[in-house]
Amino acid sequence: MLQQLWNCLLLLKQRIRVNEQEGDLRFCMLKFGAVNEVAVNETLAKEDGHKLVKISFAKEEPVDKNGAAFLLMDGMIGVEVQQYADLSPAEIHHLKIYLPYCFLPHYARQKKQAIAVSHFAQTLDGKIATVTGDSKWIGNPENLDHAHYMRALCEGILIGTRTLQNDQPSLTVRRVAGANPKRIVVSSSSKDFTCLFNSCPEKILLIGVTENPQIPNVDYKQLTANNGHIKAQNILSCLFEQGIYSVYIEGGAITTSHFLNDNAIAIVQLHFSPQIFGSGISSVVLPEIKEVKQSLQFNEFTFEPIGNSYMFVGALKQEEYL
Ligand SMILES: NC(=O)c1ccc[n+]([C@@H]2O[C@H](COP(=O)([O-])OP(=O)(O)OC[C@H]3O[C@@H](n4cnc5c(N)ncnc54)[C@H](OP(=O)(O)O)[C@@H]3O)[C@@H](O)[C@H]2O)c1
Repeated sequence: MLQQLWNCLLLLKQRIRVNEQEGDLRFCMLKFGAVNEVAVNETLAKEDGHKLVKISFAKEEPVDKNGAAFLLMDGMIGVEVQQYADLSPAEIHHLKIYLPYCFLPHYARQKKQAIAVSHFAQTLDGKIATVTGDSKWIGNPENLDHAHYMRALCEGILIGTRTLQNDQPSLTVRRVAGANPKRIVVSSSSKDFTCLFNSCPEKILLIGVTENPQIPNVDYKQLTANNGHIKAQNILSCLFEQGIYSVYIEGGAITTSHFLNDNAIAIVQLHFSPQIFGSGISSVVLPEIKEVKQSLQFNEFTFEPIGNSYMFVGALKQEEYL
């Protein structure tokens, strides 16, 4: 019933998105099977042919007696399974990886900024592309599925211009069920968006520094820049004002590094590919540090199996949401 669980997570994401009026988030329930249902701060009853999951945010919340699997959210990405009930290992894995992102709109409302999650598929020596910009494909097919799950869970997907030019991506959800996120490009000068127009008729959002270049099918937001660099927090505030509460940053290195340097990424996902380039484009380039303690560190992190490899998922220390 993995498909039903996934559809239920999409429902939960929508429910949390519109939860604005309902005060504190204490617990949520998912019921999946022939009919999917979600509830926030309300109990759902077990039904034949359905599986029930209770997700609690409070350690003192009692384990559900209704036969539900019981999951405790611990921090921003921590999902602790306290009662497995009738969930399969694949369903548990799916919940552990994807459940946290259903709650991003909740944190966005607290911060009044979109919440950013970044993702890279990188080699063991931290390269995301060769010197010529070739990156197809670093990472396994399951990593591509993962990226599409994440696209469906986030409200925006953002890339820099060079990734647009090099990779000619579609930025749509194709490998799993779910709606396309708003496709966002950051660029100081307008570029060729043909690949995005060809893949889907939905408008894209261009964030730039010049006057509106008036490109058909492009929503444009002009933000101020310092030496051509738009501050990442200003991008996230702008997205929030546009009603985009979560954004998946799919590179490249310059774009993601700007966000990291501006302390604007909440969750980092790094998929490790068992390859070494020894040259090429590094995933992250930040100003030099002199001491280890100056490094970016994580409040919580986990290594999740993705196909035949692993993905690091970490919530950065400087992001205090809880
Ligand atoms: N392995 C992976 O997971 C993965 C994922 C994505 C990309 N890639 C690879 O990464 C390479 C491209 O990465 P890259 O680092 O060269 O470039 P990039 O990050 O894709 O694009 C950088 C450009 O985006 C614009 N930009 C980004 N942030 C900005 C900001 N805050 N303010 C203003 N402008 C901003 C600027 O464009 P302007 O020049 O217009 O100002 C900047 O020069 C490609 O080879 C691609 O294949 C790999």
